[in-house]
Amino acid sequence: MSVPVIAIDGPSASGKGAVAHLVADALGFHCLESGALYRLVALAGPQDPERTAKDMDVAFRDRRIFLSGQDVTDKLRAEEVGVKASAIAQRPGLRQTLLHRQRAFRQPPGLVAEGRDMGSVVFPDAVLKVFLTAAAEVRAQRRYKQLIDKGIDANLHALSRDLEQRDARDAARKVAPLAPAPDALLLDTSEKTLDEVVGVILGWCRERELGGRRA
Ligand code: DC
Repeated sequence: MSVPVIAIDGPSASGKGAVAHLVADALGFHCLESGALYRLVALAGPQDPERTAKDMDVAFRDRRIFLSGQDVTDKLRAEEVGVKASAIAQRPGLRQTLLHRQRAFRQPPGLVAEGRDMGSVVFPDAVLKVFLTAAAEVRAQRRYKQLIDKGIDANLHALSRDLEQRDARDAARKVAPLAPAPDALLLDTSEKTLDEVVGVILGWCRERELGGRRA
């Protein structure tokens, strides 16, 4: 039997990252933050994204991300890196190159993969596909709080505009646009806490008998 994958997709600041890690921890599964790979390319070598994607030396350890041995976790979270990542993510060649890197995360006992096209393109055979949504203003507020909590200066109005532009571009691109897979379950998180969202997804996992004792 193949290694089970849970795909969690959705727009920027829909809460995918936090949700995916908590679901993975509860199940004892690995976790792939696919946006980090696009962000790494944006940081490491946006002049030649395909080559960078092929050659970059990346390691994920204890929730930290290393590029050529250097911890770049905090740098990657910067809003401007996200904007650059969204721009280069339109390139079919780059998406193709990153496919292999993403699929290599599929290791026993299972994987929770989050991004934009996990259920539609990268892991079309995922046993559970979730598409998270949240009202635009709720997402802007969440991202604002995240940045301020980290001591990063932020402007709510500018953030809200950037998120909207980024989502419009991610949804409009020709290759692997941001869109729910036809068999994805939609979950609106606007009025739910993080724990409630994780609870709903773990319930769907139990229905599929995923995760054994820890779920
Ligand atoms: O999830 P994130 O904000 O870290 O992603 C940054 C950008 O990378 C996002 O705006 C679009 C791109 N991306 C993508 O095209 N496909 C994915 N599976 C993940 C991210």
